[in-house]
Amino acid sequence: VDNRQDFKVADLSLAEFGRKEITLAEHEMPGLMAIRKEYAEAQPLAGARITGSLHMTVQTAVLIETLAALGAQVRWASCNIFSTQDHAAAAIAVGPNGTPDNPQGIPVFAWKGETLEEYWWCTEQALTWPDSPTGGPNMILDDGGDATLLVHKGVEYEKDGKVPDVDTAESDEHRVILELLHRTITDGSQKWTQLASEIRGVTEETTTGVHRLYEMQRDGTLLFPAINVNDAVTKSKFDNKYGCRHSLIDGINRATDVLIGGKTAVVCGYGDVGKGCAESLRGQGARVIVTEIDPICALQAAMDGYQVTTLDEVIDKADIFITTTGNKDIIMASDMAKMKHQAIVGNIGHFDNEIDMAGLAKVPGIVKDEVKPQVHTWTFPDGKVIIVLSEGRLLNLGNATGHPSFVMSNSFADQTLAQIELFTKPDEYPTGVYTLPKHLDEKVARLHLDALGVKLTKLRPEQAAYIGVEVDGPFKPDHYRY
Ligand code: NAI
Repeated sequence: VDNRQDFKVADLSLAEFGRKEITLAEHEMPGLMAIRKEYAEAQPLAGARITGSLHMTVQTAVLIETLAALGAQVRWASCNIFSTQDHAAAAIAVGPNGTPDNPQGIPVFAWKGETLEEYWWCTEQALTWPDSPTGGPNMILDDGGDATLLVHKGVEYEKDGKVPDVDTAESDEHRVILELLHRTITDGSQKWTQLASEIRGVTEETTTGVHRLYEMQRDGTLLFPAINVNDAVTKSKFDNKYGCRHSLIDGINRATDVLIGGKTAVVCGYGDVGKGCAESLRGQGARVIVTEIDPICALQAAMDGYQVTTLDEVIDKADIFITTTGNKDIIMASDMAKMKHQAIVGNIGHFDNEIDMAGLAKVPGIVKDEVKPQVHTWTFPDGKVIIVLSEGRLLNLGNATGHPSFVMSNSFADQTLAQIELFTKPDEYPTGVYTLPKHLDEKVARLHLDALGVKLTKLRPEQAAYIGVEVDGPFKPDHYRY
């Protein structure tokens, strides 16, 4: 392989800018940097070939270089068509010691504004290892589960001896996936089965990807062990909540620069992401209304001081609508038809099916116009305009730069420790879905205390005995909910 061709990014000349931001981010990611130091000598990921599918941002660059510093070989793609930061991708391709004329970095296939065909091509490139015995990785690090899905679908078709029928596609994206599988399966190479045989496991970043893994476990189709990184406390109770508290309004501001104070904002879903989003909008002085299906989360929202009602009740009154559910069909075209002039509609959940974009495009006489990339007006025949962010895809990464470094240091420290667990202890993780052991979860939190000047109280032995824990933890049983 010509190493110089083994990547695809938007513009290598952005590498210097990317490197500067990576250097700033490293200081804000004490968890990752401490792990680099701790494992520098042991090299626990030596021999690991990690395929990553996760938003190619500056923070992810620090994760990638941490995995490499621990001995891993890495190939990377983004897990969303709009989420790549092109300067971060360029810096990864060039590497700390390379130049744009002589790139020496890590194979990365990601740029901002991929088509769906390009997106799945990039995922395929990240999964294709020219120098490996199986042609593939032996570890996956996933966000949303697209890389894992591709491998599982490929194996399923190969096992059944079937060829995907492209005409059965249920959506544009499904068609692209079926075409890719068709191309890679009809050559008879058993590519996916061979590739899957050596995969020791996957570590999954987000709620939506974790749902997919538990479904496969339930159906008996899961092919290798998985660590559910999302449900590490130091992930979902921090990244999903405090990360979105930061990056939701960042996305709205960069996209529209509309004053949020005094406006009425609707947050659909009051899980971890919804909690952060509601707080973020309230912090700007918006009147926040929550919708929920779960009585527990609805009651939480009410006790946190938010009005909780149905979308129907507020559809023609609110100014900003944000979906955070990880569910589908939350805001339909018929809902958007009822909104106020210049209402803002955005999604921060993982996939773009929370807002009915396909239905919106089919409204007779509707006109879509680009204000700037990832910001579109949709004009209804009566002249009413709504503003849709990132075409319904996660707006904090499409319209802004996602979560900031410090919170991602927690998530990515969890990811790194999860990779080490699965790669170095295959015997302890038979095929199934696991969460990170609590002592590692607590370790990740601990690595972030000094930077914030936190002084932790030390448990005395008799106190530890009294509450039934060890002096150094774990401090809570697994069922504790934080
Ligand atoms: P969660 O499961 O904690 O929360 C989702 C909430 O939506 C639940 O409380 C559920 O009851 C509610 N819900 C479901 N259907 C609903 C409906 N029809 N109407 C109103 N509420 C409904 O999940 P979490 O962790 O909050 O994640 C939500 C989504 O955000 C997932 O897709 C996840 O992958 C994604 N995510 C995105 C991030 C980003 O940076 N954009 C960061 C972390 C997660």
